[in-house]
This record gives sequence, structure tokens and C-alpha cells, in this order.
Amino acid sequence: MKLANNTVLGLMGLALLLAGCANDMSDIEVKEGGYVGSAVCARCHDRIAATWQTTPHSMVMKRISGPQDPRILGDWQTPPNFTATDPSGTTVQATDLGDMSKDQIMLTHGVLWKQRYINADWEVQKFQWNIAENFWGPYHFSDAKGPNWQKKCSYCHVTGFNQQDYSWAELSIGCEACHGPGEKHVKAKGLARANTITNPAKLPWHLASDICGQCHTRGKSPDGKAPFPVGYSVGKRLVPSMFTVTSYDNKKAWWPSGAVKQHRQQYPEWQTSSHYRAGVSCLDCHTSHSSSNRFSTRGTGNNLCLGCHPNISTDPVSGHAPIKDAPQHSDCIACHMPNTGKSATVGDERTHTFRFISPNQTLELGGGDLKKQPNSCNSCHYHQKHTPQQLQERLDLAKHRLSQ
Ligand code: HEC
Ligand code: HEC
Ligand code: HEC
Ligand code: HEC
Ligand code: HEC
Ligand code: HEC
Ligand code: HEC
Ligand code: HEC
Repeated sequence: MKLANNTVLGLMGLALLLAGCANDMSDIEVKEGGYVGSAVCARCHDRIAATWQTTPHSMVMKRISGPQDPRILGDWQTPPNFTATDPSGTTVQATDLGDMSKDQIMLTHGVLWKQRYINADWEVQKFQWNIAENFWGPYHFSDAKGPNWQKKCSYCHVTGFNQQDYSWAELSIGCEACHGPGEKHVKAKGLARANTITNPAKLPWHLASDICGQCHTRGKSPDGKAPFPVGYSVGKRLVPSMFTVTSYDNKKAWWPSGAVKQHRQQYPEWQTSSHYRAGVSCLDCHTSHSSSNRFSTRGTGNNLCLGCHPNISTDPVSGHAPIKDAPQHSDCIACHMPNTGKSATVGDERTHTFRFISPNQTLELGGGDLKKQPNSCNSCHYHQKHTPQQLQERLDLAKHRLSQ
């Protein structure tokens, strides 16, 4: 039934395209800045719109209809259980959700790692639901109240943000977040439609990645006032004119090795990588309109990497990183993108420097303490008796054997 509908819609779309897209656009509402909204794009690009709806980009923010709304993922029956400092500076054991009731929720924020709750005064509430682990965690618990979502957060979780009055055209990441405002494009007819909207694939690779970088980053606007790139528009250069990324010396955001500690820094990480220097962009590894796997990669497992690195041998004995008596090591991202980042819980995001972090770096930069500097090998050998020193020795042995 569903398939039949899609086929009919597809044929209708095709017919419209052939007819030069005879869609009447006189009824559309154009928002500040020329934004028309994804629903209008969907009138002609129906297949792209249908798959975009399955991406986390399209789902991240939800306007809630009431306390029974099934999109509220947090479980109010499960009490929180953590120790944190309250606004008076006292250490408390949180065992209930205090005055955070389901009735106050206006927006839910998040579907992948964690969900936060925003009330009608735009305050982000102090308990967040950690989705994978099913528990409540603290959020700005020691502050008098949570941050103002409209002022501090919205830019990166909406489309068509307007700095003048902190408003936006659409909740979540719609078409125009990556393509720019569509008014001219949707109102043009026939041949006049050419070059009326940005296709990232036609931009130089670094400007295309800047589109993603406007949100997948952390830092300040040029005047230092906003934590997002005020004045940036799709197709422009993002750094350094529109945005200063958080200094790599900032110990809260980065590990000493330069790998990510605080989430959403894929862009500044990638900028330090050989992929950046070689012009391999976000678009080379990620799809934008569909999400056939959790993180929307163009290939899964080693296939993504081997497509461009066909000479890297995955042979466990003669491969490029063989470890004696341990032929299990062939997973590219386990060593080159270890889980050093944190969105909800430590290690739930991978690093995008693509650099192997050796156990030696834990010894040298973290004094042997994995809590001060994680490494690729211990990201799996965490629960085992292997110390960074022992693992480094085994790795050196492998390298030594290779050079013979
Ligand atoms: C009235 C129909 C219609 C609507 C509505 C529409 N498009 Fe298009 N779009 C087209 C057609 C037809 C083409 C291909 C021909 C062309 O580029 O002249 C196209 C091409 C594109 C391209 C490729 C441009 C290029 O240079 O390669 C992008 C990107 C795009 N549309 C995005 C959007 C977005 C985003 C929206 C909503 C803001 C939208 N479209 C709304 C009809 C439409
Ligand atoms: C997260 C960013 C992002 C979002 C959101 C997004 N696009 Fe795109 N779009 C891209 C990129 C990047 C390309 C270039 C090709 C590629 O990498 O897939 C593209 C290419 C296109 C093209 C050119 C033809 C093609 O298929 O490559 C059209 C048309 C288009 N997008 C329409 C849309 C519409 C309509 C929506 C909303 C329903 C949308 N896009 C949402 C990033 C995005
Ligand atoms: C500069 C852009 C930016 C700003 C500002 C920003 N975020 Fe985000 N946020 C992101 C990006 C990008 C992601 C997803 C990628 C990642 O986490 O690595 C994300 C992820 C999230 C998630 C997890 C979503 C999920 O599905 O699990 C939540 C919740 C969240 N942000 C809340 C906030 C709150 C609350 C604020 C304001 C205090 C805020 N963000 C400010 C860009 C931003
Ligand atoms: C060389 C390939 C490659 C490039 C380039 C790349 N990514 Fe990724 N990305 C991946 C892989 C692989 C994963 C993890 C997939 C998994 O865990 O299954 C990932 C995961 C992610 C995630 C999920 C959170 C995390 O960090 O684990 C986000 C968000 C992301 N990438 C955004 C970006 C952005 C934005 C860019 C460009 C600045 C980019 N990626 C460039 C391969 C790449
Ligand atoms: C307007 C801000 C914004 C832009 C632009 C943007 N993202 Fe995102 N991205 C987010 C947010 C917010 C999330 C978290 C969504 C969620 O958790 O539901 C996210 C999640 C992701 C994820 C992980 C979930 C998934 O599978 O989609 C990847 C990968 C990703 N983005 C890649 C990209 C790439 C590549 C581009 C550029 C083509 C891009 N993003 C552009 C804000 C943005
Ligand atoms: C679109 C092609 C492409 C994809 C996909 C890709 N790479 Fe690369 N990679 C390159 C290019 C080009 C270079 C730079 C030239 C070189 O050193 O080979 C590079 C460099 C590297 C380097 C650094 C080499 C050095 O000498 O510093 C590592 C490590 C690496 N890639 C790992 C990966 C991993 C892991 C994946 C999968 C997540 C991956 N690559 C996916 C093209 C790609
Ligand atoms: C057991 C850990 C491990 C695994 C698994 C692994 N690598 Fe590596 N890789 C290393 C180490 C160690 C180096 C040496 C350079 C360094 O120390 O940074 C390296 C170097 C590289 C280089 C640059 C040097 C060269 O040989 O050209 C590339 C490219 C690379 N790896 C890609 C891959 C790809 C693709 C995969 C998956 C097929 C993969 N690696 C799997 C540990 C690993
Ligand atoms: C993807 C996860 C993963 C990563 C990353 C990883 N290992 Fe392993 N390793 C395993 C598994 C699984 C085994 C086999 C099970 C076991 O022995 O407990 C193993 C076994 C070993 C063994 C043999 C066990 C023994 O007691 O002698 C050694 C040595 C070893 N790994 C060293 C390393 C080194 C060095 C690195 C970094 C270059 C590394 N591993 C990275 C998962 C990993």
C-alpha cells in the first residue's frame, strides 16, 4: 500500500518536473530572510523530502502536544540517582525530578544520545534523559536556572535563524539550513530557475564542509557574544571571519592529544586531519538526505575507508598494524576514530582527527592515566588487565616485525 502510494507520488512528481513544475507558489508564506520551509521544497522534491524525514536532522526538535505525547522519551517513573552540586553550592543526592513536570514541556530536544526539555519560558530543564543507558543525568544542575534555549541553543537546531529577534523559519534542520533560503528558487519558472539555490556538491569542497561546520562546532561569533556563527550564510567562508573555534588548549573541550572531549566538534577536528589537507570533505563520508545507518555514512564498517584506501591490508598477520597473537584487529575506525568524545556519556562519540592515538600518548600526555589521556588500544582494552605500557610494547613489537 505504502509502496503503491510512493510510486504514484513519484510519477506525479515526475509529471510535474516534466511540465516544468507547474506548481503554483502563490500561496506560500515567506519568512524573514527568504525562507519558505521544507514542506514547500517537498512539493517538487518529494522523494528527497521523504528520505530526509528519516534523518536525525529532521527529527531533533519536537513541539509537544501534552504530557502524554509519545515523543517524550524520558521515563518519569524511573527516579534519578546521581550526586551533584546544587545552586547553593551544597552537594546533594538527586533522587527525584523536583518540579520538572511533564505538563510544562513545550519542546523536546534530542533523539539519539540524550533528550532535554524546554518549557514555555525557553528554559532548558535540569534533568536530561540519556537515551542509550536509560537514566537521568544532570544538566547545568548547579546554576539557578538552565540556559535560555532561544538565545543560546536555537541557531544550530533550527533553520533560518534570525539574530534580530531570535526567531526562526522552521524547527530542526530543514532543507534551507544546507541550501540557503529558497524564495527565489521556488518562485522562478522554467529555465530561470537555474542557479537560484546552492547545491553543496557544486561548491569547492571546503566551502561545502563549512555548511556542516556552522553547527558541528564549538566557539564564538566574531564579537564574542554568541556561541554560533552570526551572519554566516550558505556558500560563504565560515572561519575565521564568521567564527572562532574553541582553542585546542581548552582542556574542557579537548584531550591533550587534540582529540575531542566535548561533543559536536567534528568540524574543528577534521580541520586538523590529513583528510582536510587532502580535500576529503564531510560529504565524501556522509549522506545528507537519507540515513541508512546510525550516523549516515556512505559505507559501513571498513568499506567506507577501503573505498579510498584499497592498499591498506586488513590481513590480521601481515596487515599494516598486526599485533602478535591477536588477529582480531582489523576495524579501521576502532583505531583511527576511537571513542574519546562525550554527548550523553563518556565515549559515546568518535574522534574525527582520524589519527591513531598510541598508548605512548597516555604515558606521555596523561602520566599513564587513561582519565587524563585515552588511547586507541585502551578504548577496547579498558576492562582488561592491559596497561598502556604493555599495549605499547606489543605494538612496538609489531612495528619491529614489520621493519624486518
Ligand atoms: C516548483 C518546484 C520546485 C520547488 C518548490 C523547489 N524546487 Fe528545487 N529544483 C526544482 C527543479 C525543476 C530543479 C532542477 C532544474 C534546475 O535547477 O533548474 C531544482 C533543483 C534544485 C537543486 C539543485 C540545483 C543545482 O544547481 O544543482 C537544489 C539544491 C534544490 N532544487 C533545492 C530546493 C530546495 C531547498 C527547495 C525548497 C526551498 C526547493 N528546491 C524547492 C524545482 C523546485
Ligand atoms: C544536512 C544538509 C542538507 C539538508 C538538510 C538537505 N540537503 Fe539537499 N543536499 C545537501 C548536499 C551536501 C547535497 C550535495 C549532494 C550530496 O552530498 O548528497 C545536496 C543536494 C541536493 C539536491 C541536488 C540533487 C541531488 O540529489 O544531489 C537537491 C535537489 C536537494 N539537495 C534538495 C534538498 C531538499 C528538498 C531538502 C529537504 C527535504 C534537502 N535537500 C535537505 C545537503 C542537505
Ligand atoms: C554551534 C552549534 C550548537 C549550539 C550553539 C548548540 N548545539 Fe546542541 N548540538 C549541535 C550539534 C551539531 C549536535 C549533534 C552532533 C554532536 O553532538 O556531536 C548537537 C546535539 C545536541 C543534543 C543531542 C541530540 C540527540 O539527538 O541526542 C542536545 C540535547 C543538544 N545538542 C542540546 C543543546 C542545548 C541545550 C544547547 C544550548 C545550551 C545547544 N545544544 C547548543 C550543535 C549545537
Ligand atoms: C573519512 C570519513 C569521514 C569524514 C571526512 C567525516 N566523517 Fe563523520 N563520521 C565518520 C564515521 C566512520 C563515523 C562513525 C560511524 C560509526 O560510529 O558507526 C562518523 C560519525 C559522525 C557523527 C556522529 C558523532 C560522532 O562523532 O561519533 C557526526 C555528527 C559526524 N560524523 C559529522 C561529520 C562532519 C560534520 C564532518 C565534516 C566536518 C565529518 N563527519 C567528516 C566518517 C567521516
Ligand atoms: C543547522 C545546523 C546543522 C547543519 C547545517 C548540519 N548539521 Fe548535522 N547535526 C546537527 C544536529 C543538531 C544534529 C543532531 C541531530 C539529532 O541528534 O537528532 C546533527 C547530527 C548529524 C549527524 C549524526 C546523525 C545522523 O546520522 O545524521 C551527522 C552524521 C551529521 N549531522 C552530519 C552533517 C553533515 C555532513 C552536514 C553538512 C552537509 C551537517 N550535518 C549539517 C546540526 C546540523
Ligand atoms: C574519499 C576518500 C577517502 C575516504 C572515504 C577515506 N580516506 Fe583516509 N585519506 C584519503 C586521502 C586522499 C588521504 C591523504 C593522502 C594519504 O595519505 O593517503 C587520507 C589519509 C588518511 C590517513 C592519514 C595518513 C597519513 O599519512 O597521515 C588515515 C589514518 C586515514 N586516511 C584513515 C581513513 C579511515 C580510517 C577512513 C574510514 C573512516 C578513511 N581514511 C576514509 C582519502 C579517503
Ligand atoms: C590495530 C589498530 C589499527 C587498525 C585496526 C587500523 N589501523 Fe591504520 N594505522 C595504525 C597505526 C598504529 C598506524 C601507524 C601510524 C600512526 O602511528 O599514526 C596506522 C597508519 C595508517 C595509515 C597511514 C600510513 C599508511 O600505512 O599508509 C592509513 C592510511 C591507515 N592506517 C588506514 C587504515 C585503514 C583504512 C584501516 C582499516 C582497513 C586501518 N588503518 C586499520 C593502526 C591501525
Ligand atoms: C575494536 C576493539 C579493539 C581495539 C581497538 C584493540 N583491541 Fe586488542 N583485542 C581486542 C579483542 C576483542 C581481543 C581478543 C579478546 C581478548 O583477548 O580478550 C584483543 C586481543 C589483544 C591482544 C592479545 C591478548 C593477550 O592477552 O595477549 C593484544 C596483545 C592486543 N589485543 C593488543 C592491542 C593493541 C596494542 C591495540 C592498539 C594498537 C589493540 N589491541 C586495540 C579488541 C581490540
